[in-house]
Amino acid sequence: MIDLTGQVALVTGAARGIGRAVAHKLAEAGAAVVVSDVARQVEGLTYGTATDDDLAGTVAAIEAAGGRALAVPADVRSHTDLEAAVRAAVDTYGRLDHVVANAGVASWPQSTWQATPEQWQTMIDVVLTGTWNTVRAAVPAILAGGRGGSIVFVGSTAAVKPLPTIGHYAAAKNGLVGLLKSLALELAGDSIRVTMVHPGGTGTQMTQNPAAEHWQATAPGVAGTLALPMPIHRMEPVDVAHAVRWLCSDEARYITGTEIVLDAGATLR
Ligand SMILES: NC(=O)c1ccc[n+]([C@@H]2O[C@H](COP(=O)([O-])OP(=O)(O)OC[C@H]3O[C@@H](n4cnc5c(N)ncnc54)[C@H](O)[C@@H]3O)[C@@H](O)[C@H]2O)c1
Repeated sequence: MIDLTGQVALVTGAARGIGRAVAHKLAEAGAAVVVSDVARQVEGLTYGTATDDDLAGTVAAIEAAGGRALAVPADVRSHTDLEAAVRAAVDTYGRLDHVVANAGVASWPQSTWQATPEQWQTMIDVVLTGTWNTVRAAVPAILAGGRGGSIVFVGSTAAVKPLPTIGHYAAAKNGLVGLLKSLALELAGDSIRVTMVHPGGTGTQMTQNPAAEHWQATAPGVAGTLALPMPIHRMEPVDVAHAVRWLCSDEARYITGTEIVLDAGATLR
């Protein structure tokens, strides 16, 4: 059984979806978790991002299951917000061991080259710069503990196998792969591991909204690509959360710089 008792984690984008499931699973294993999220509408998107109530709901669910969690609203585009989230972790729980950079957004242009500059910039700002902001806020606190720790990026199978029309999303997620490898090398001497999961289609509000469903149904070449070879319709957030929790645990203590694809075999086709 994975035991994270006494350890402390920060999860971004934790108000719902995969981030909420990750926070829940880390807390179930005994970690105290700072759950952070922008918790308001991100401008320019065609679906809703999470709310304050969603973020409070993550804390309530963890506490109802006997775990410890603290909500800290933070926009990953703001390094200052993330520093405040890290400070809250250390002030409240005394240390920081794990960071899960999960916050992300989606948009569905007609084609990659027709993405608007705003769609491009929001993607890069949230997914790529947001993850870097998360890392640079968190690493000093993990280093200060002197015990090592882990950082997990949530990527996407869109970084593994091309999908038409969302090259901006793939570019941002592939950018994380480069970041992952440099950081893994740099931080190995301090026993801080950096790993990444690439989920395939997972049932969350990012994929289950009218704009996403329209894209899945109508974008040329997309529908067939998203079908899973295993006899399931889609994966659930908990399937991703189990892998992330394992990557945070001592069972993965020598795994770093590694990407794990979680897609029921979809990218094999
Ligand atoms: N659902 C899928 O099929 C799927 C597949 C591959 C990868 N992913 C990735 O998983 C991660 C989680 O997505 P999800 O599917 O749970 O979707 P989701 O929309 O339910 O969750 C994303 C969360 O990130 C938050 N967020 C957005 N912008 C933010 C910002 N600037 N700062 C802080 N928080 C912000 C949102 O409010 C939301 O709570 C994302 O990185 C996404 O790209 C999802």
